[in-house]
Parts: sequence; C-alpha cells; structure tokens
Amino acid sequence: MSQTEMVQINGTRFWESIYEMAKIGATARGGVKRLAFSDLDYVGRDLFIEQCEELNMSISRDAIGNIFATMRGQDPTLPLVRVGSHLDSQPTGGKYDGALGVLAALEIARSIYESGKRPLRTLQIINFANEEGARFSPPMMGSGVLSGKLDLETMLNTVDQDGITAREAIKADKTGQYPLLEPHPVHSFFELHIEQGPILEEEAIDIGIVTGAQAQRWYTLDIFGQESHAGPTPMPHRKDALAGAAEFTLAVEQIARQHAPDGRGTVGTITIPNASPNVVPGTVRLTIDTRHPSDEKLLEMKAQLETTAVSIASQRKLEFHLSQLWHSPATPFDEHLQQRLTHFANKRGYSSRLIWSGAGHDAVYMAAMGVPTVMLFVPTKDGISHNESESIKQSDAIAGCQILCDAVVEQLM
Ligand code: HGY
Ligand code: MN
Ligand code: MN
Repeated sequence: MSQTEMVQINGTRFWESIYEMAKIGATARGGVKRLAFSDLDYVGRDLFIEQCEELNMSISRDAIGNIFATMRGQDPTLPLVRVGSHLDSQPTGGKYDGALGVLAALEIARSIYESGKRPLRTLQIINFANEEGARFSPPMMGSGVLSGKLDLETMLNTVDQDGITAREAIKADKTGQYPLLEPHPVHSFFELHIEQGPILEEEAIDIGIVTGAQAQRWYTLDIFGQESHAGPTPMPHRKDALAGAAEFTLAVEQIARQHAPDGRGTVGTITIPNASPNVVPGTVRLTIDTRHPSDEKLLEMKAQLETTAVSIASQRKLEFHLSQLWHSPATPFDEHLQQRLTHFANKRGYSSRLIWSGAGHDAVYMAAMGVPTVMLFVPTKDGISHNESESIKQSDAIAGCQILCDAVVEQLM
C-alpha cells in the first residue's frame, strides 16, 4: 500500500473522545462504573451509536446486545474487517479498559471518512456486550455468543446479584430497535487495549503486539454447613461455612503460587445469604478465577482445587459443591497480522515487543471462531487496571491508535 493510502488519525480528537465517554458512569475516584446492560452502559452505547451515525455508518444489534456499526466498502461482497472492544466496565473500573479499543475503532472510521478514501472492504466496528462478566458471568459474553462458543439462551438466563436476568436487563436497551445482523464472512479482527500489567512500562516499550491470551477456568463453590448461635455453640460443635471458605480461599492463593510465575488464582466474590453478626454462617458461595498460559497446568490446578475442597469439607464436616462456570482455552493470535503491526510500529518509529495477554478479551472468541485476529497493547501506569486509578499516557494511546489504523487500513484497501 502506498504512503498516500496511509490514513492519519486525529490524536487530539481521539483522546478527547475517551474523556467524553469517561464522563458516563464517572466515579468520584476517577474511574467509571458502566456495568453491563445497566442504564449507564446504555448511555455509553447510545453515545457510541450517535457518533457512528454521524459517519453514515449503519447500526445493527444482535440478540445478546452486541452493537455493530458498518461502513460499507466499494465491494460489499468481500469479507469485512472488524475492529472492536467493549464499553462495559467493572464496578470500580478504569477509563481505558475496553473504551480505548471501541473509540480507537471510531477514530479510524472518522479518519477514513474525512480522508475521502473509499476502502475496498467494509469496515465494521463492534461494541461487544458484557465483556467484563462483573454483573452477569461469564465474561466475554457478547463475543462468546457471536462466535457460537456460548449458548444464547443460557447466557440470557444468567442472573445478577439482584436476581435480574440478562434477558430482562437487555430489554431496557433502547438500541433494541436496530435490526439483527445478517451473517457475513469476516476477513480479520483487530483490538486495541491497555496491557493491564506492568511489562511494557517496566521495559519502556511503546507497543505490545499480542501473540495470544492465556487459558482461564472460573468456578463457583457452594459451601453448606450449619447455621447456629454464635454464643452457646461450642467451637468443636460448629459447621462454619465461612471458616471453610476462608481456608479454601488461602488454598486457592497457595495453588496459584505453586505454579509460579504464571499461575493465577483469585477468589473475587463471596456471598453469605442472610448473614448476621451472631449467627455461625451455614451457607457461603465463592467465585474462583484461575488462569495459566498452559491448558495442561490449568487442569493440574483444577485437580488441586478439587482435592483441597474434599479435604477441607471432611475436616470441617461441611458440604462443598465446586462447579466449573466457564473455560476459555489458551488462544493464539494471527502471526501475519502480528508482523504487520510490528512493521507499522517500526515504520512510525515506535519500539514494540511480542507479549502474551494475561487478561481475557473479546479478540479471544474472534480468534476461536477462526477469524485471523490480533491485538495491540499500550502501556498501563504501574500495571494497574480494574481499578479507578487506571492510567495511560496520551502519547501512547495516540501511537497505539495510529498503528492500529495503519494495519486496519492496509487490510481494508
Ligand atoms: O477478566 C478479564 O480478563 C477481562 O478483563 N474481562
Ligand atoms: Mn477489557
Ligand atoms: Mn476488564
């Protein structure tokens, strides 16, 4: 592709679009809270749709709430190029996780629109529904359903902590009136995201070219003991579900540490129905997030979790029900597209390195459905994410968006 066909993004406009989106669901400590299918998520989705419609992009939406904004190419019969990420956030999320990728895609569309160029292929931006899985588990729900790897009805029946189903929550989406999408062959998928870890910043590297994402297995553990009075019940007589949960939580951490340096184990939520200060807890539910670059090692960790559950249950006279909630296998990304991103990073004078993703992303399901897929990371301050203090440099964001644009435009033309 000649230099003349390069498309220049408007970095200032891109950075401003991030801060405009960050006002939606802004939290007092500088983060965002736009839980999937919440009113604020819909406000963010509607802003995104308005911005795409200003570019004469057609909008459609599928049954799980993914939003597609399409800029038709000269030959609409050709497989299309998709670029996307997610606008939903964690409860104490950062401004950039997900939004960076959706707004980079919008900036690319804006820049193409202004350039007057008419790409050969169609460009399609996707805002994936419920990537975070914070309100409705599992995560990457929209991309999982789109890829056919997650069942739509099962996902619509998932329930949040208030007993609301995803099906009920999606109904409130005003964008529901957009037509469903006709299936169309896909040429490639690109996603820009923050690294959410410390490597690029520690090594002072501008751009991470993502080679793939690690394996994940999520579980729920339901622990049943016996509620009893905190006063007269002697310690040896107790069946304390919360004490069992605490012991298991430390064991999860221990198992992950045994698989250092790559093993990850997190008990992220605990639910104690009808908890009371002077009642020995009889029922506790934990969620467990485990990860490793190797599927085999992750299975070893699963076996260790299972034996640990059995031994704590018998020692404490409790019932443990450990069930797997979700599995995402280790997923490699497309090597040719990695090389193209590296080429454009070099051409623009940025340092880059290959990097494996510790986090899951919608790109994982795009790759899993056989679409040539690649991601690009920009450095994250102190490697902190899923935290209101999440921060990136404006110059890194703009560099990432421009390199993404170069690689996307090359596939479009
Ligand atoms: O959990 C993840 O890896 C992603 O942030 N949803
Ligand atoms: Mn994300
Ligand atoms: Mn996230």
